[in-house]
Parts: sequence; structure tokens; C-alpha cells
Amino acid sequence: MSERKPLMAANWKMHKNRAETREFVEAFIGLEPPLDQVEVVICPPFTSLEAAVSTCEGSGIQVAAQNMHQAQSGAFTGEVSAAMLSDLGVHAVVLGHSERRELFGESDESLSEKVPAALEAGLTPILCVGETEAERSGGKTDEVLANQVRADLANVSGGDLAQIVIAYEPIWAIGTGQTATPEQAQEACGLIRALLAGRSDEGADALRILYGGSMKPENAAELVSLEDVDGGLVGGASLDPEDFAAIASSAASA
Ligand code: PGA
Repeated sequence: MSERKPLMAANWKMHKNRAETREFVEAFIGLEPPLDQVEVVICPPFTSLEAAVSTCEGSGIQVAAQNMHQAQSGAFTGEVSAAMLSDLGVHAVVLGHSERRELFGESDESLSEKVPAALEAGLTPILCVGETEAERSGGKTDEVLANQVRADLANVSGGDLAQIVIAYEPIWAIGTGQTATPEQAQEACGLIRALLAGRSDEGADALRILYGGSMKPENAAELVSLEDVDGGLVGGASLDPEDFAAIASSAASA
């Protein structure tokens, strides 16, 4: 099995202006998280990306946007392309977060174009998938995850899988304080990896799968120690530098 370096991503959603971003990054670096053992990615709103890139420079911390458009340029008012993000020095992009799917009509079809567009621009796509509470209680979790992964990665070759990060985020766990159990998280992440192994064993083995949904300093170590969980996509708890540093440290020691 390949050694997958743990990855912890801070999904700030619509929080933190430029000054708050710089303040966070400086405080976080000051806490000396083990950046040689865990890859850390900060995902601020578009308007704080440049502040994040400049403050993170030289630290090893990477910066990701929270969305992008699939086209390179064009008449798409309000949108931003992958090339524009790379031009800013951004390294990665979160795609298909459940809030974008549920509130802004993000579809599997557009994601199937966004993932290769991100790769082409040299950005690491962090693709989010996950089931609702009703889908889980209706026994549909496996089917929902398989459909999302298949559709969203339809235009990605097996050879490119290693460049992608997938975040398994059960929707019922996001922002609710109700974390998936280790068994639920491992089962879902294991299923995603097995599904991708059908396309490339090597790619599936190298690809990192994150868990997201009420990850906190108290539960991160247990979750990232699971066989198929390689890190986390952290919302609420990533807004505080001490909490996020504690989460990053627990990933390194897991
Ligand atoms: P949460 O959010 O950690 O606040 O549950 C996770 C996410 O939405 O990525």
C-alpha cells in the first residue's frame, strides 16, 4: 500500500476577511503544527485568497478556493475560472460541497467538467460527496456515493486519480455536532476507494480520502486513524487556529 500523507483542510465557508485571514495564518503557524507530517490546506472565501496565499508563502501551507467555473473564460457573470485561481497562487479547489449542491444547484454534470478543468489548470480538486439523512436511513448510502463518484469523475483518467482528493461528508453530520461513527466513516471511505480501484488500483491506492462533518480536536485522531481515511475537511472547528492546529497534530500522530 502506498504511504498517503495525511491532509487537513480548513473549509472556512463564508467566514474571515483579509485581516482575519492573515491573523489566523500567523497564529496557526505560531502554534507550530507538524507541517512536515501533515499537509494543511486553508480554504478561505474568494476575497481572502490572495491574503492567504501571501501569508502562507514559504510555510508549506496550501490555499484552496471553495468553488470555480468549468470554462476557462467567457460570459459567466459572477464566476471565476481555474486559471484565474492558479494565477493567484492558489493550489487547490473544493468542488461539489453539499452546500453548493443543495443551495446553489451544483450538479454532477457540471462537476464532471469542473474536476478535469481544475486538473488542467494545475489545481488539486477536493471533490465532496455524501448522503443525506433520509438516504442513509433508506439504505441508499452506497448507491448515492457510487453515483456521485462515478458521475463527477466521469472525465478523469485512472492515471489522474492520484492527483485528486475526495472528501466524504455525510450531510447529516455537517455543522450538526453529530459526527459519523468510525464504522460509518470507514465503510463509506472504503467503498469509495474500492470503487475507484476498478479504474486504477494504483490511482485508488494513492488518492487521499478525507472525512468531513463535525470533525473536532476530540474526534479527529480516531477518524484519521481509520484505514481509508487520510485526513479531514473541517468546517466550524477550523475557524479557530488552536482547534485547527490540534486537529492537524492529531492527523500527524495517527
Ligand atoms: P463542519 O463542516 O466541520 O462544520 O461540520 C464541514 C464541511 O462542511 O466541510
